[in-house]
Amino acid sequence: MYTSCTQDPPRAANAHVANELHAGLEARDAWISPKFLYDALGSKLFEAICELPEYYPTRTEAAIFARHGAEIAHAAGSGTTLIDLGAGNCAKAASLFPLLAPAQYVAVDISAEFLNDALGRLRQRFPQIAMEGLGMDFSTRFELPPSVAAGRRLFFYPGSSLGNFTPDEAQGFLRRLRGQCGDDGAVLIGIDLVKDKATLDAAYDDALGVTAAFNLNALRHVNKLIGADFDIRAWRHHGFYNEARGRVEMHLEATRPQHVHWHGGSRRFEAGDCIHTENSYKYQQADMIALLERSGFEATRVWTDPQRWFAVVHAQARAKAQVKVIH
Ligand code: AVJ
Repeated sequence: MYTSCTQDPPRAANAHVANELHAGLEARDAWISPKFLYDALGSKLFEAICELPEYYPTRTEAAIFARHGAEIAHAAGSGTTLIDLGAGNCAKAASLFPLLAPAQYVAVDISAEFLNDALGRLRQRFPQIAMEGLGMDFSTRFELPPSVAAGRRLFFYPGSSLGNFTPDEAQGFLRRLRGQCGDDGAVLIGIDLVKDKATLDAAYDDALGVTAAFNLNALRHVNKLIGADFDIRAWRHHGFYNEARGRVEMHLEATRPQHVHWHGGSRRFEAGDCIHTENSYKYQQADMIALLERSGFEATRVWTDPQRWFAVVHAQARAKAQVKVIH
């Protein structure tokens, strides 16, 4: 399921989106998938998060790319079909274009509107690179349209977005990428590493309240998608590191009792009730490498920052295991 960026984004939520939202809102422990954090405003709020002093991942990853870009490009090779998963404003991939010199750039993002603007500007700056935008949710299913060149594929998944999956889901996702990349394909993944709780807590509950706005915006987005009547002022943000589970969690807490309605349902929330909106898993470097191996990839290089807060991993598709026949 993909919409080309040259088309208008769908006006109303499709049935799949509505069903998923209904299921989450009606569950005993209510949840909203983190993908609903990203409408046009949500994507802009996330950009603002990336500028916050407390939110270290973006600038730490950027520093790794700036310092080791040549080596990274050497490991990845030029002339690839660069497939940017969760491209957003496309800035990260674009900063690598001069070194990576891809033959085709495929920007994939759930927020097609946002992608459109970004790609328009990039086409002017890099006319030699064929570009395509795909507005699609690649988190559960993943199929690329025929317009994506068959050449050597490099899946680019920076920003620790893989952390939104549980480790099991991440394995399923990486296996799907393995299925789409051929024996000569590879992945370039940026992943946030385990670190002290205070640093993580601050990164997901910043002093300015930008992350709070980003989290609360999910309710605004849900209001639009399924005609819900969440009162944003009746909810507050929580973002913290759950050490036992090795993940940051974001929740929205009702600050007073309320009844929320949407097309096809309603629910009462008591003060203190929470909606779980995001998990952001943090990895040990060795666990990330093991996860890639379980998923059909072989890590070729890992680059980190001096504090070892963040890792960029290049992993090559492993050829299908040879079956040894014993006579
Ligand atoms: C885009 C999923 C990597 O988990 O750090 C930022 C999203 N949530 N602040 C992350 C996010 C709250 C971000 N990812």
